[in-house]
Amino acid sequence: MTAADIHSAARALLSWYVEAGVDEAILADPVNRLAPAPKPAQRSDPAPAPRPAASAPQTPTHGPSAPPPRPAVPRAVPRAAQAELDRPADAARAAARGATSLESLKRVMEGFEGCGLKITATNTVFADGVAGADLMVIGEAPGADEDRQGKPFVGVSGQLLDRMLASIGLSRADSVYITNILPWRPPGNRQPTPAEIATCVPFVERHIELAAPKVLMFAGGTSAKTLMGRKEGITRLRGTWMDWPLPNSGGVIPALATYHPAYLLRTPGQKASAWKDLLALRRRLDEVAKAV
Ligand code: URA
Repeated sequence: MTAADIHSAARALLSWYVEAGVDEAILADPVNRLAPAPKPAQRSDPAPAPRPAASAPQTPTHGPSAPPPRPAVPRAVPRAAQAELDRPADAARAAARGATSLESLKRVMEGFEGCGLKITATNTVFADGVAGADLMVIGEAPGADEDRQGKPFVGVSGQLLDRMLASIGLSRADSVYITNILPWRPPGNRQPTPAEIATCVPFVERHIELAAPKVLMFAGGTSAKTLMGRKEGITRLRGTWMDWPLPNSGGVIPALATYHPAYLLRTPGQKASAWKDLLALRRRLDEVAKAV
């Protein structure tokens, strides 16, 4: 094989990765996943290394025929944050509780090191729109555009969301506040894991408390299931009003789930149902405004 062949094979492999959605390098060093597994430790071996925390990045294993391990990859997470990695959801809850305004919650989230997603994300995507608006929309997680710009719903599905809201006279410029369950983009837009979601829930719950909307709209199944603690899919959950319980006051906020705009882009036949949901939202917002 000539150098040119190797170069063109490497380019073809990279293009294939990108088409398959692999667009982030997670570790500083490549991992030889084809190397044989290491032999089990002998009795005389030194004590086994402590297990890494559940959400810490995995250390690559090096088989006997693999080259000797390289020097340790520099720690992506400062030592002081290690405690947060050990019990990330508890750490998130304590940090979120300490925030007494949206600005301080944003700062707390930007400084939080207990979620591995933050390591690969470019930005902490906090919110967009009008803080204090009657309607708060909650999506799933930032995609590539949101990660780059640091704002939720600014890519193609965000454009559809804007059109959906405009169809009932709303806009993020003056009447809607928007955030996500996760403030950090899962690499390659993969599904967030239950552990990642559990870590981020205290932040979004506190976010809702501090923004104090009158009505919630859950955009998609992840948002609805996570915040309502439900197992049903979005097809069952959408279109029926639910009460989202405020964690500390005993109060509730009326919440309506609807299809995620990204799903509607793939499945335009469901737009009629989404339109019904939007009309129901409009009616509820009008009632809320009259009641003031
Ligand atoms: N999808 C979401 O759920 N949120 C965004 O911010 C963008 C796409």
